[in-house]
Amino acid sequence: MRLTRRAAVAAVGIAALLTASACGGSDDGGSDGGAKKVEVFTWWADGGEKAGLDGLVSAFGTACAGQTFENGAVAGGAGANAKQVLASRLQQNDPPDTFQAHAGAELLDYINAGQIEDISADYDSWGLKQAFPKGLIDNLTVDGKIYSVPANIHRANVVWANTKVVKEAGVTADPKTMDEFFAALDKVKAKGKTPLAVGKDWTQLMLFESVLISDLGAEKFTGLWNGTTPWNDPGVTKGIADFKKLLSYTNPDRDALDWTDAEKLVMDGKAAYQLMGDWEAADLDAKGFKDYAWFTFPGNGTTFQWLADSFVLPKGAKNADGTKCWLKTVGSAEGQKAFNTKKGSIPARTDAAPADYPKYQQAAMADWKSATPVPSCAHGSACSQGWQGAANSALGAYSTKQDDAALQQALTAAAQQFAGKK
Ligand code: GAL
Repeated sequence: MRLTRRAAVAAVGIAALLTASACGGSDDGGSDGGAKKVEVFTWWADGGEKAGLDGLVSAFGTACAGQTFENGAVAGGAGANAKQVLASRLQQNDPPDTFQAHAGAELLDYINAGQIEDISADYDSWGLKQAFPKGLIDNLTVDGKIYSVPANIHRANVVWANTKVVKEAGVTADPKTMDEFFAALDKVKAKGKTPLAVGKDWTQLMLFESVLISDLGAEKFTGLWNGTTPWNDPGVTKGIADFKKLLSYTNPDRDALDWTDAEKLVMDGKAAYQLMGDWEAADLDAKGFKDYAWFTFPGNGTTFQWLADSFVLPKGAKNADGTKCWLKTVGSAEGQKAFNTKKGSIPARTDAAPADYPKYQQAAMADWKSATPVPSCAHGSACSQGWQGAANSALGAYSTKQDDAALQQALTAAAQQFAGKK
């Protein structure tokens, strides 16, 4: 993503504001009281996300003597703010020592822009080619080279429920189809509560993607992103109609909320359900909320909508040695356990022991083995950042105007502009 000079300056302003406390000391990336700093740039600033990051930081502290972690986190779900700040820093040749990037199309953006280093040789010396599943390695490999270390696998197509609210509404079983879901939402509505909590644009894109998986099936859904399913397909038209109906059950202030605000509606018993990635499991746990249950989005069957957070070595990183130790930690069995037990995700490595993990992740690990994987545009495994931005604004416009034809046209135009572009 390119920013105008003015936008870049504004973004840097935000960065300075948001990372002011993190950057309190010298910011040369060099020595500070003997230890070398590694600035780690993420959007994991709070709750379960911060708990996951803290786990990784403690593994890094053990494995990387002489290096210290510097927190470059910029708050905002799905990197809504962080990605803008990062883009302007990269443009100004001021990269952090490492940053978070989604495996798949999003990572390709940074590779194509020449902003990150090939770390294939480190993969060999750290034994990572054997540690990760072949499918993931294939996903990370571009022209025979690998540029990032995945920390996890997250699942996006999960519905989280407040068990008390659902029970009070008389819903006795998890809905398995869209029709059953609508029936459950009606029951909650009759109790005067918000049936389905949702937040702004990217959270609505997630909800819409889940509906599309139900209406198109896994293969045709994946085809939307690789060019084999046209966006004017009747399944997309049906998906928009179902999505419109779902929106009628949501909180009217949705466009002003981040995912954690929508989650709070569920925790406070004001809403029954929320579609969100499984970072919500970790966040609910971190906030001490226990009365929750989860199920795969109705109609998605055994589809596992995956995404993976990975870390990179940016070109021009000030402390490349320290970054390599961070990356090695991210890929290690210890690092993956310290991170994923707290983050709601499952390890990308195949050698983890499910018994070490909370109940939700144990179920997700079992599902991941047998499920049909599909990618996510809202979280970069399916689409580039440009495409994601276009999809987010199309959904944002739809939230207010609810013009079905305009949404389908905007998504068709976005695919024409971005599909297959390197
Ligand atoms: C995703 C990211 C997750 C989680 C989520 C909400 O893009 O991959 O790890 O942080 O955003 O912020």
